[in-house]
Amino acid sequence: MVNKLTIIDRYKKKIKLLNKHNKLYFNNDNPEISDSEYDNLKKEINDLEKNNIFLKKLKLNRTLVGSPPSNKFKKVKHLKPMLSLSNAFKKEDMKDFLKKINNFLNTKDNNIELSSEPKIDGISATLIYEKGILTKGLSRGDGIVGEDILENLKTIKNIPKKINDNEVPSLLEIRGEIYIGKKEFNKLKGNFANPRNAAGGSLRQKDPKETSKIPLQYFAYGFGFIEPMKFNTQSEFLKMISNWGFSTNPLSKVVKNLEEIEQQHSKVDSIRSSLDYDIDGLVYKVNNLKLQLRLGNTSNSPRWAIAYKFSAEKAVTKIKDIVIQVGRTGAITPVAKVEPVTVGGVVVSNATLHNEDEINRKDIRIGDTIQIQRAGDVIPQVISVDISKRNKDSLKYIFPEKCLCGSITKKELNKSTKKEDAVRRCFRGFDCNFIAKEKLKHIVSKDSFNIDGLGKKVIDQFWELKLIRKPSDIFTINYSKIRGLEGWGDLSIDNLKKAIEKSRIIELNRFIFSIGIRHIGQESAKILASYFKSIKRFLDLFDEEKRQKNLKNLVDLDGIGEIQIESIDNFFSNNKNVEIVKNLVNVLKIKDFKAQNKKGKFSNKNIMFTGGFDKMSRSEAKSLVENNGGKVLGTISKKLDILVIGNSKPTKKKIESAKKLNIKIIKEEEWYKTLNL
Ligand code: IVH
Repeated sequence: MVNKLTIIDRYKKKIKLLNKHNKLYFNNDNPEISDSEYDNLKKEINDLEKNNIFLKKLKLNRTLVGSPPSNKFKKVKHLKPMLSLSNAFKKEDMKDFLKKINNFLNTKDNNIELSSEPKIDGISATLIYEKGILTKGLSRGDGIVGEDILENLKTIKNIPKKINDNEVPSLLEIRGEIYIGKKEFNKLKGNFANPRNAAGGSLRQKDPKETSKIPLQYFAYGFGFIEPMKFNTQSEFLKMISNWGFSTNPLSKVVKNLEEIEQQHSKVDSIRSSLDYDIDGLVYKVNNLKLQLRLGNTSNSPRWAIAYKFSAEKAVTKIKDIVIQVGRTGAITPVAKVEPVTVGGVVVSNATLHNEDEINRKDIRIGDTIQIQRAGDVIPQVISVDISKRNKDSLKYIFPEKCLCGSITKKELNKSTKKEDAVRRCFRGFDCNFIAKEKLKHIVSKDSFNIDGLGKKVIDQFWELKLIRKPSDIFTINYSKIRGLEGWGDLSIDNLKKAIEKSRIIELNRFIFSIGIRHIGQESAKILASYFKSIKRFLDLFDEEKRQKNLKNLVDLDGIGEIQIESIDNFFSNNKNVEIVKNLVNVLKIKDFKAQNKKGKFSNKNIMFTGGFDKMSRSEAKSLVENNGGKVLGTISKKLDILVIGNSKPTKKKIESAKKLNIKIIKEEEWYKTLNL
């Protein structure tokens, strides 16, 4: 007979193992064992407990979480993308936000209504009601495709399963944030670093019964798709859904100007610690939904909303050393290595010093006592130096003139301001190992190839191992070299392989963005993709003659200027870049660019504007053309279909050239009519 002590021993070991794997998955997001191995382990523990009642008395801390990830949740496309928010940190940023709104709408409204709501630090989820019945529930995923977590969401008590009102829209998509109350989180004492992780872990349980054990809650804050639409303002929407049984945040309030924004901000900040849920700021949304629609989105975030984060936490520490870092564009950033200090619950040992000018302005030296601040997720900054604590023989910091690769750095002359840049740069591109590594990090990042499991740290690791030195290496990794290394089990290798395979198929615009041509961001990459259409045509840029021909045409595109054109020319004049891009293209399948919303009033039409409009800004006019399938050009040419003349100061020369080319010309009033405005 197996004795009691042996059983206790075996039981303890298994619990320890279970907790280890829970931690690997839930805290480190890096599971080492497969789902079935995990399930077996859990079953063994359950069996031991069932057959040996005395084990329960040991009250071993078995984490509440049930099973590891599940690739098994069904992936479902969101009816409308779930975007993220841009951030504001100070009053000035909010002033800018209001100014941008007014500029876009071409108004001068100092009292634009905003709905202010706490930004809950939880996990976002979206709920779809068909004829008032909850039929779908999705996680955010990458914002475009989410995971079907309906059954788990249904276990949350304050999520209505049915809306009892005949007036409810037949299709209603409610968006909100799932969280765990702070008190409940403290009771859990699980393996999680914070309530947010615990909520995420609970939601990703394969078995909804496990989710139901953790007291999750939900605040509804917005909508995706609604048909028929019956709301005029965000505040009206919140009131109505609260009547329908959704929990909305009681601290939501309509405010009208910068002063009221600041007031509400300090008010909520002062009671923040007494709330039972974590918030990291307030979200401000333009209240009028028609205006929201006019404002629309940029690539990642709406123009009508912003997250105003609570003020940065500060701390005092000492500079141990100043080192330089090299970014993917060659920018040299000085970083202060500081004595570790806790700022807002996070241990900080690095702080950015921005650039050479900043160091000179503040006369920052090694050994100085400094104040640092950390706002949101951004890198902590040095705000001031305490000169009174400075050592008498401290020396002025001399900024290195060489890059870490040894080559001389330079400050460029800014073409538009005609001033010297504050930033020094290394110009060796992929030839500089430090730049090359950063370029790799950019290539695998979310907005580029978006390779799950291949983050910055892994790139550092694989770089050291010489597994990846140039972009195409990502697709030919020798996996036998990483098997057995710390953090790499069969399951994680398998997941990485799958993620890399998946990323081989990429849209042209993403590809263009990912190769990291300076001054070509996501928006310009899209404009270029819509011009070139296919990778075959894009590769014309390799050939000097064809490149010059194409670059000449690019001048016509609105949003591509001289700076971008010169940068593209520079990039492709460099043989190393050409070789790297060629090798990468060879291992990929790059999809032709397909513009969204191609169908519309301006399908396949090229439009140009001259002069200002009374009722809208140039930016809004541009996005109206694009949302209706058209393209906005920056110069008059035979390709132009319509020239729209605004009432305020149109350029005569442009009108004359358009007339000569027999291009259709319409006036501002007709433009509004065309759009039924
Ligand atoms: S509105 C277009 N309102 O913050 C995005 N978001 O960074 C509109 N969040 O993923 C979001 N509380 O999960 C909004 N009251 C609130 C929010 C909120 C938390 C989260 C949300 C989103 C993230 C945006």
